This record gives sequence, structure tokens and C-alpha cells, in this order.
Amino acid sequence: MQKLEKLFEPIYIGKLKLKNRIVMVPTDTSSASAYGEVTERMLLFHEQVAKGGTGFIIVGASTPDSATGKPTVTATVVDDDSFIPSLNELAEVMKENGAKCAVQIQHPGRQAATPPFAQVAPSDIVTQQPGSAGHERVYGGRRMYKIARALTIEEIYDLIEKFSEAAWRVQQAGFDAVELHGAHGYLIAQFMSPATNQRTDRFGGSLVNRMRFPLEIIARIKEKCGEDFPVLVRYSADEFVPGGRGIEESKKVARMFQDAGVAALDISAGTFDSPWPCMDPIYYPEGWRVYLAEEIKKVVDIPVITAGTIRDPRFAERVLREGRADLIGLSRQFLADPEWAKKAREGRFDDIRKCISCLVGCWQESLLAKTRCRCAINPVMGNEKKFLYLKKAEKSREVMIIGGGPGGMEAARVCALRGHKVTLFEKEDELGGQLRLCCMVPGKEKIRWILDWLRIQIDKLGVEVHLEEEIVPETVKSLNPEVVIVATGAGVLNPDIPGIVEEKTLPFTDVLRCTRRSCKWWPRKREVREVDVGEKVVVWGGGFAAADTAELLASRGKKVTVITEFPEFLPDMEPITRETQIFRLTGREVPGLKNKPYKYKVEILTGLKVTKRVKEGVVVMDKNWEERIIPADSLIIAIRNTEEMDAEGSLAHSLRNIVPEMYLIGDCTEITTPGGHFNIKNAIYHGHRVGHLI
Ligand SMILES: Cc1cc2nc3c(=O)[nH]c(=O)nc-3n(C[C@H](O)[C@H](O)[C@H](O)COP(=O)(O)OP(=O)(O)OC[C@H]3O[C@@H](n4cnc5c(N)ncnc54)[C@H](O)[C@@H]3O)c2cc1C
Ligand SMILES: Cc1cc2nc3c(=O)[nH]c(=O)nc-3n(C[C@H](O)[C@H](O)[C@H](O)COP(=O)(O)O)c2cc1C
Repeated sequence: MQKLEKLFEPIYIGKLKLKNRIVMVPTDTSSASAYGEVTERMLLFHEQVAKGGTGFIIVGASTPDSATGKPTVTATVVDDDSFIPSLNELAEVMKENGAKCAVQIQHPGRQAATPPFAQVAPSDIVTQQPGSAGHERVYGGRRMYKIARALTIEEIYDLIEKFSEAAWRVQQAGFDAVELHGAHGYLIAQFMSPATNQRTDRFGGSLVNRMRFPLEIIARIKEKCGEDFPVLVRYSADEFVPGGRGIEESKKVARMFQDAGVAALDISAGTFDSPWPCMDPIYYPEGWRVYLAEEIKKVVDIPVITAGTIRDPRFAERVLREGRADLIGLSRQFLADPEWAKKAREGRFDDIRKCISCLVGCWQESLLAKTRCRCAINPVMGNEKKFLYLKKAEKSREVMIIGGGPGGMEAARVCALRGHKVTLFEKEDELGGQLRLCCMVPGKEKIRWILDWLRIQIDKLGVEVHLEEEIVPETVKSLNPEVVIVATGAGVLNPDIPGIVEEKTLPFTDVLRCTRRSCKWWPRKREVREVDVGEKVVVWGGGFAAADTAELLASRGKKVTVITEFPEFLPDMEPITRETQIFRLTGREVPGLKNKPYKYKVEILTGLKVTKRVKEGVVVMDKNWEERIIPADSLIIAIRNTEEMDAEGSLAHSLRNIVPEMYLIGDCTEITTPGGHFNIKNAIYHGHRVGHLI
């Protein structure tokens, strides 16, 4: 077993001793009450992270002045003494379980998410970058970036006072430290950045003036809370926006914070004008932001935290050993697995459920949809009251699961944990379902992590797995199980249009299926055989399958056109991921990934109906009923068929009168989790829930 000595070495932040170098960087779990008080859900989640062996937990954004803006509708609030008792409960639960803790204080300024939005900022300018993460759409048509009113000098001093009062409350509540949120384009960052601060008074212009706001807050906190109360600052070492701060100025900023008595720097990236590097979607490689912390570390003596897509403890150990940072920050990883630190310490690397950076549960279906933070691959997160305590079943039953995709595997895992005798049948020669297809696409290799995790867990739990066995009603009859779970997924639509039989037309599964043999993650080595699709390909569809098939074909040098009937491509996809994939497909650079040559020139055509397949290509009709031909050697159908799964003639339908107890889960059912879609989160949630029910 590889020893992670450095990761578990104690470290000081000011006079505060941490037992290890694992930090939960601020994560707004959108689970405070409507008024901003800590809730039971927040307590349960943070308790798990502390029990999981994390050294230092920084609670997510808490606002010092809710009247002028909250970052999210259910962020914690620290603008009044009445919030101290509930914060105290939170501090206590973490400290009792061995973690040190802090609260991050954040004012959103022009990035407020609560009405009336974007009230105040250093300057009354709109600098929204064209093509930023589509907040207008996801915030229900409300513009997130209204022109904020520029603060007066009196108001600035009032806010400085409010920040320091908030820090004092954090200290009173029993926290060990406080962090200022100077990253991601929020108010402090707006003052610090030349892109958003165009003031001409003592709070704008030169770097010294732009830094006056955070530095005066720090000075005032020190007066109120004493020199020994550690103040950390989080800021983006590269904002990745035109006219914003880059690494060189960020180094000067680091020294200024150090001189002001800041105890540690928490290095991040991006702003909401450039959200990709800030909420790094699946495409960003492990630890891609470490280079920023490394640059900052060269110019200061105080500890530097690095965060952003760090998942493997062995990678974290290497970063520390190489002296590139002093502490390792994780955010989404704790949503996926609060026991990361404990498992790392015990060398149980295979048991760590690594976050796949899909942003679906924690971002798309929570903060953006204004519901609550969950996790696509860990259904317990956000559902602690329902799922945290897994009881053994009163009676062990024989459970037959049909379908070895994520839904079926999660159901198998939970049923086995509860003591049932589980048999899982899969018609293919590998487990994984559609995930086997999508993790083969360039950039989506992380999907493999959850697939492997599920496979390893059900193996350890003794689930009996039968591969290459397609279940038909007769098999079920003969096996006579007590409970059947149907998790057979969705098929591919077989559209009834002229010419489809005569001219080359393939389901997307034929294209992706062949590629899996070539993937380096695939455990078995088999022959690689690509289907011949010619040079010009039309991919028909507007979701995951279409985008990934197009990307794979483009990476092979094909000329690809994607056609969808919808007015928008990838309408259900999490917006930051969606934009990243569209940038990749169309050959636009993704900030922070600029060294990768994305040269694909996929054409994406929306609002078109496919009417015919002809020898020269595909005939499409627009909304004015005008037809034209898109030249193509092949047409690839990438539309999933979820409608026929439970219909007459389907397996589920035929089993209705055969088995005493049956459940349908995942893509093969019309039911999605509230606000959800046909995706990994939905399938895993269903599988988990059904496991609790049986
Ligand atoms: C290309 C592509 C990319 C995607 N990318 C993403 C993404 O980035 N994020 C995301 O959240 N979702 C993504 N999805 C969607 C996601 O993969 C599915 O929503 C998810 O896999 C559904 O899980 P499931 O267990 O319900 O069904 P499936 O994964 O479809 O698994 C069903 C399994 O049942 C088996 N089966 C069917 N009939 C039988 C039978 N009679 N007997 C035995 N076995 C049977 C099948 O072989 C299959 O293995 C993507 C899908 C595709 C196709
Ligand atoms: C749901 C969610 C909430 C977040 N809340 C905060 C926050 O309150 N303050 C902050 O500085 N960063 C916040 N972040 C950013 C994370 O701290 C972190 O920098 C980012 O997710 C990348 O790290 P990771 O790959 O470990 O998740 C949040 C991220 C997510 C996904």
C-alpha cells in the first residue's frame, strides 16, 4: 500500500493546527433555511465530512448583508447575531468529530442570485462575456447580470464593517477561522479585478486602490477578532476573462495579502463571466489548476491551498510532495464521498467513489434550479434524512435484477448491503450499460470511475453476476424470484422515414460500441474495429448520445453535421458542460484547456426535421416547410427510445402478471427524479431508492 505521509502530515494555518492537509473548500450545499439558518440537512452532511477524517472544513458562502444580495437562495446568512446559535451547532458537530472549521463570507455584488439581483458593485458596468454559461436561460429568464449600481464611499465602508461583523459572529459561533470569498467574480473579486472595477476614487484604478476593499476588511476583522483568529482569502489566480487579472498580478496580490496578515491562500480560478475554469466540468483533467497554486506558492511563505478536480489521493500526495501546494482542497469530491480522507488513509483507493464532475446534482438540479444540492452518483447527499441510515432487511429475499447499467448496479449494491440475495443479469458481455459507451468518448473518461466503483462494490458484496444472458419472460418464470427489478435502459429509436433501409443508416450504438475496444481504461484487450461510416456523416439527435457520437467521429477526422428538431442543441444538459462540449465540437477554445488542440468543425443545425434519407445525404425540412439536402455518406440515429420500454410487448409489461413484486428503474421508465432527466443521476437514484424499499 502506498503511504500518503504528506497528505496526513499536520500543518499550521496561523496558530491553528490541522491534523492533516485535506480541506473541504467552500461548497454552498444550498441547504440553509429560507432565512439563512443552518438546517438539520446541513448538520448531517458536514458531520459526515468531519467523521470521514477531513482536517479542515470551510463552510460555503455565507452572506454578510442579505439585504443587498445572497449568492444563492438558500445560502447561510451571518448578517445578524440571531444566526450565531445555529452556526454554533454546525461548528460543534464538525469539531466534535475531529475537524477544524471555518466559514466563508461572501457578498455576491453583481452576481446575486436573489431578487432583486445584482444590486451593488464597484462600478455600474455590464461586462458579461458573450457566450457565458447561459445563466439567463437557467435562471428562468431572469438576467443574472443586471447593471448593478456603483457603491458610494459610505456604502463601501458600511460593507467593510458588515464583513468584519460577520467574521466576529463566525468566531463567536465557535469556528476556528474565517475565509473571505475574493474569487469567482463576487463582490470582493469585483473590487480586485480591473475588468469589473472602473472606479476613479481610492477604491479603484491602481492595484493598491483595487485591493483597498479586501485589505480594509482584513484589518477590521483583525481589530474585532484579534490577531490570532486566522483569516484566509480565496481568490482566482487567473480570472480567464478579457481585461481581468492574470497570474502575474495575482502573485502581487498574494504578497499583499500575506503582508496584511492573511493566514493562508485558497487558490481558485475563473469568474461567472468565465465559469468553465471555476466549476470545471468533466472535460478538465485531474488537478489542472494546481499550476496556479504552484505559481502563488513561489512568492509567499503562508500555506497555499489548491483545489479543482482533485480526486485521487495518490495524485494529491504527489502534489504535496513536489511542493506545488501545502494543502489539498476538495469540494464536489465530498459530495460524492464524504469518507474520502478516511478511505485514503486506509489505502482503500478502490472504495473511493470519485466525483465525475458532471455538475448535474450539485449544480444544474440544485443551485441553478434553486432546489437543493445533491450528487448524481451519491444519492445519500441531499437526501440524508431518507437514506443516510441503511437498515438491514428484516428478511433476506431473492432479488433478480435485469440490466447491468448504473441503475441496476446501484440497486444490486444497496440490496446486497441490506442482506438480500441478489442476482444481476446483463445481456452484454460487460457491465455498465450506456456508460460503457459514453466513457469511450474523448474527454469523458471520468465516467469510467463510477462504472468501476459500482462493479468493484457489487463484486465485494457477493452479488451473483450473469453476463451475456438476455432475460426473457420464460427465464423469470423458471427462476421464480421473490422480487424483480427491471433496469433495462432505453433503446435507440427506429424512425419510420423513407430511404432509411436502403441507404446507409446506423444506430449510434454501432459507432460507439466498436470504439470501446480501443479505450485504455478498458480492462480486456480486444480487437478494434471501427464501423465504416464514410467521410461525411449526419448525426441525428439533440442529446448526450448525439453530442458524444459527433465528438468521437470528429476526432477521427470525419466531417460531421448534427441535426436536431429542437430549437436548441443539448437542451437538458448542465449548462457549463453543454457550452464546453459545444466549444469542443465547433472548435472554440475552452478557457484553461487552451493547450489542447480542439480543431473539430462540427456543424450543429437546430430546428430541422429529417424527412427522407436519399443516396446523396439526408433531406431536412425547416420551420418554413422548405426542404434541402445535407450531404452525407451515413446517417447515424442518436435518439433514444424511452417510450416503448413499458409498453405492450416489452419485457416489463410481460412480467407484470408473472412476478409478485416488480420495480422499474432508470432509463427504462418514464419516471425521472423531480426536475431530473434520463441520466446517470436518475438511474442511480432510482436504484438506490428501490434498494431501500425492498
Ligand atoms: C453516448 C452517451 C453519453 C451519455 N453521457 C451521459 C453523461 O455525460 N451524463 C449522464 O448523466 N448521462 C449520460 N448518458 C445517459 C446515461 O448513460 C443513462 O441515462 C444511464 O446509463 C441509464 O442507466 P440505466 O441503468 O437505466 O440503463 P442502461 O445504462 O441503458 O443499462 C441497461 C442495461 O440493461 C441491459 N439489458 C437490456 N435488456 C436486457 C435484458 N432483457 N436482459 C439482460 N440485460 C438487458 C442492457 O444491455 C444495458 O446494459 C449518456 C448516454 C449515452 C448513450
Ligand atoms: C455545488 C457547489 C457549490 C460551491 N460553492 C462554493 C462556495 O460557496 N464558495 C466557493 O468559493 N466556491 C464554491 N464552489 C466551488 C468549489 O469550492 C470548487 O472550487 C470547485 O467545485 C472545483 O473543485 P472540485 O473539483 O473539488 O469540486 C462550489 C462548487 C459547487 C459544485
